[in-house]
Amino acid sequence: MNAPIVSFNHVGKSFDVDGFELEAIHEFNLDIAEGEFVAIVGSSGCGKSTLLRLLVGLDTQFRGQISVDGQAVKGVGSERGIVFQEHRLFPWLSVADNIGLGLVNEPLSAAQKQQRINDFIDLVGLRDFTRAYPHQLSGGMAQRVAIARGLVASPRILLLDEPFGALDALTRQQMQDELLAIRERAKITTILVTHDVEEAIFLADRVVVMEPRPGRIKQLVDIALAHPRQRSSFDFHQLREELLHELTSDDHYQPSVPVQIRDLPLTFIAC
Ligand SMILES: Nc1ncnc2c1ncn2[C@@H]1O[C@H](COP(=O)(O)OP(=O)(O)OP(=O)(O)O)[C@@H](O)[C@H]1O
Ligand SMILES: [Mg+2]
Repeated sequence: MNAPIVSFNHVGKSFDVDGFELEAIHEFNLDIAEGEFVAIVGSSGCGKSTLLRLLVGLDTQFRGQISVDGQAVKGVGSERGIVFQEHRLFPWLSVADNIGLGLVNEPLSAAQKQQRINDFIDLVGLRDFTRAYPHQLSGGMAQRVAIARGLVASPRILLLDEPFGALDALTRQQMQDELLAIRERAKITTILVTHDVEEAIFLADRVVVMEPRPGRIKQLVDIALAHPRQRSSFDFHQLREELLHELTSDDHYQPSVPVQIRDLPLTFIAC
């Protein structure tokens, strides 16, 4: 690998929860090449969002070192853009103004900013909704606004935390196609957190499987399938089985069945 654009070296993170230390990340080591697409999968609470927050520079209290282009991360920077787990649009701002928030620290004139905002509104297909407010958008449209806001400052590294989690299956597939098209044009290094193994295989060059308590790397899986990837192909199916096995073979793995239902007697569920 050429010199990595992102490097996690012996990264650890603990939180103080009610006077107790909770180790959220344990000895995380990972190098990411320029232009690479890495997906991170793992059960809830294994530290995926925490890792992104550390890389984007929102939390600087951690063990080890995270570097971008060989420089230690010490805070936020416009070469790193993030799309959060919830879209976090401001309800009192229009689509254009929400996207414009991604440019507040950029040394651009008002006209240049407007041009950039318009370009990204076009990119995510929301030209007719430029002056709309978040409550006038569907969930998928709101997510597209959040993605445009993450991209508008032309980051070299894009961090996506479950960006399509709340979308229906069809919109989700459309958004995945759009993300690939955007990447094709902009060649951005991308790190995507997802619960969806199929999404990871469809998009990523490499998948990091995490395990919880404390959050750490369990397995790295290369996805050497050519694009465009066919979800119905044999190779895709085999990788899916392999990843699902990795995810569920954890002794601590808790299937995501709500406790109330799991604990009910079967006769009750049948009613
Ligand atoms: N600010 C915080 N204070 C205390 N504990 C925290 C804080 N943020 C995260 N944690 C804990 O760190 C662990 C990892 O949380 P994180 O949000 O990174 O998980 P995740 O993998 O993103 O989960 P999910 O898939 O549910 O989004 C969890 O046990 C969580 O309770
Ligand atoms: Mg999370």
